[in-house]
Amino acid sequence: MTHASNTSPRKILVTSALPYANGSIHLGHLVEYIQTDIWVRFQKMRGVDCTYVCADDAHGTAIMLKAEQLGHSPEQQIANVKAEHEADFAAFNIGFDNYHSTHSDENRELSTLIYERLKANGHIATRGITQAYDPEKQLFLADRYIKGTCPKCKSEDQYGDNCEKCGATYSPMDLINPKSAISGATPVARESEHFFFTLPAFSDFLKAWTRAGHLQDEVANKMAEWLDAGLQEWDISRDAPYFGFEIPGEPGKYFYVWLDAPIGYIASLKNLLDKQGKDWYEYWKPDSTTEVYHFIGKDIVNFHALFWPAMLHSANLRTPSKICVHGFLTVNGTKMSKSRGTFINARTYLNYLNPEYLRYYFAAKLTSNVDDIDLNLEDFIQRVNSDLVGKVVNIASRTAKFITNAGGVLASNLADPALWQQFVDAGETIASHYESRDYSKAMREIMALADAANEYIATQEPWKLAKQAGAEAQTQVVCTLGINMFRAILTYLKPVVPALTAAAEEFLGETLSWTQPVSFRTGEKINEFKPLLTRIEKDKVDAMIDAGKEALAAVAPAPTAKVESNIEPIAAEIGFDDFAKVDLRVALIANAEHVEGSDKLLRLTLDLGGETRNVFSGIKSAYKPEDLIGKLTVMVANLKPRKMKFGMSEGMVLAAGPGGGEIYLLEPHAGARPGQRVM
Ligand code: MSP
Ligand code: ZN
Repeated sequence: MTHASNTSPRKILVTSALPYANGSIHLGHLVEYIQTDIWVRFQKMRGVDCTYVCADDAHGTAIMLKAEQLGHSPEQQIANVKAEHEADFAAFNIGFDNYHSTHSDENRELSTLIYERLKANGHIATRGITQAYDPEKQLFLADRYIKGTCPKCKSEDQYGDNCEKCGATYSPMDLINPKSAISGATPVARESEHFFFTLPAFSDFLKAWTRAGHLQDEVANKMAEWLDAGLQEWDISRDAPYFGFEIPGEPGKYFYVWLDAPIGYIASLKNLLDKQGKDWYEYWKPDSTTEVYHFIGKDIVNFHALFWPAMLHSANLRTPSKICVHGFLTVNGTKMSKSRGTFINARTYLNYLNPEYLRYYFAAKLTSNVDDIDLNLEDFIQRVNSDLVGKVVNIASRTAKFITNAGGVLASNLADPALWQQFVDAGETIASHYESRDYSKAMREIMALADAANEYIATQEPWKLAKQAGAEAQTQVVCTLGINMFRAILTYLKPVVPALTAAAEEFLGETLSWTQPVSFRTGEKINEFKPLLTRIEKDKVDAMIDAGKEALAAVAPAPTAKVESNIEPIAAEIGFDDFAKVDLRVALIANAEHVEGSDKLLRLTLDLGGETRNVFSGIKSAYKPEDLIGKLTVMVANLKPRKMKFGMSEGMVLAAGPGGGEIYLLEPHAGARPGQRVM
């Protein structure tokens, strides 16, 4: 590491990945921005000269097409999204020192500089490649913009580079009946000249670099696999029309978005430092003694741990000190899903819940490894209410009023030095967990302190002491320790919950700073205590999930041009892979019977050609059990079993109709056999 010596203070540049300018910030993104922001706030609190920059990633075909779809210019598109992103980040207290855009003068200048250096060093190659071209839209098509029938298994509607059904990989022109996903036209093969960065020339450099302590071990191991498999030259150009920077001296050729995106980190820093009369090069010169930390998600490791250090090395700039990779967010144990309402945008969350809750919950889950992290909504409510409200805020709410009774003045002596020493000693342990991004360990230490504080208060019972004649001084001394324990805890929590801390600082009449040892305040005045944080209400969480689902319904395609239609709107488009997850089977209704105590349900025994399933179905209003026995129907066979009042329901039968007497079970044509998959 290009770490400064012990005598010179640390100077760190920190970045989060630059979000694309074609969509909203969602809770998945926020794992990263919250993780980074906590680290930066921690460093700043400890007196480190730490600068946190980010920007919108504004280039590429997706953004160009999005702008076109919305009927405005790409410039308008990226301006709108930037304003939205900045407002969302501010609401979550993400304290960037600068938020810029990759579509900026600084980035054009720096991209040009770096490209010219790569070229001068012989690391840019050109050659013609053949690619799919949309003759109608007059656009070269990236693989994801081509769809067709898999040449191997003949499944329809597969993407251009691999079949989600059989797993085959191929080139898009091998698809049967390929179509442009943009215009529907049949693509043609067309040759054009592309520019390549000669990545294989950096193989030895990268083998050493990826093992030199810049990466988590698991990430370094992954890179070793790729390096051993051999590197390919990296295609860094795209043909017009493209929204990006034209390559200097190469009309009609543009930098691929991923070439100028990481340079956007430097551009954002330059934009900030120019205003302060400082020089970006101080951070990026080869012998710089500053540190550079990039926080990113696991999906973009190759760009940051291979291409980026190789580019910087070629351009004679320093390489990053650390790439800090985090996993992906799941909600309730599965991928965020629009139909389940768990694809939650930052804005939707803010309409219902306090951002501090999420910041704390993520902190309580985040580690220094690359594992995915789960937002379990039940656990979220329970954890935040019990830790932040029940433990932390409780310490102040149980002791503050007795200080107020004593004229608001803290006592001048320390009731239990051994207990206080625990709070002092924990400081450096907690700091080391923050430093290594083991926030979950830091939160555990802090909550152990909160438990110790609450235990002390429960034992001392200041509310009883306060009623004893002559015990006023003792009550004040006990509560002074209570308030100081609260101060220490909030000092250690401040990087995670800045807004809660700000409210507490108002009550305490001071700014909490992370001195070592943490200070013990005596003899001073504090203000009257007001509630600092309310509990999460389950209703709010439910409403947020419903809002997520409604937002989805709102963007679902309208039913086709029928005016007086009472047909439910067609749900939002899904990929074949989404559909393929639903395992539909032909099922024989082996038995059907009434369910005692239920006026809606029938109990069905479904035979899947050997295996039987017990399913409760709300079809009693339309069917008599005896009319169903012996018939075939279609069931969802891989639905998670659901515990109902009357027993486990292990699947679901398919039916149409509005309900009541109008429920129509599906029945396959004659010849279908139980257990056959429906596709
Ligand atoms: N524009 C690129 C990054 C360029 S950096 C020079 C990009 N943008 S993104 O908007 O797709 O993602 C931004 C960051 O958010 C990435 O680090 C990505 O890994 C992270 N996440 C996006 N979805 C996520 C989850 N569901 N969970 C956790 N992090 C996620 O990639
Ligand atoms: Zn296939």
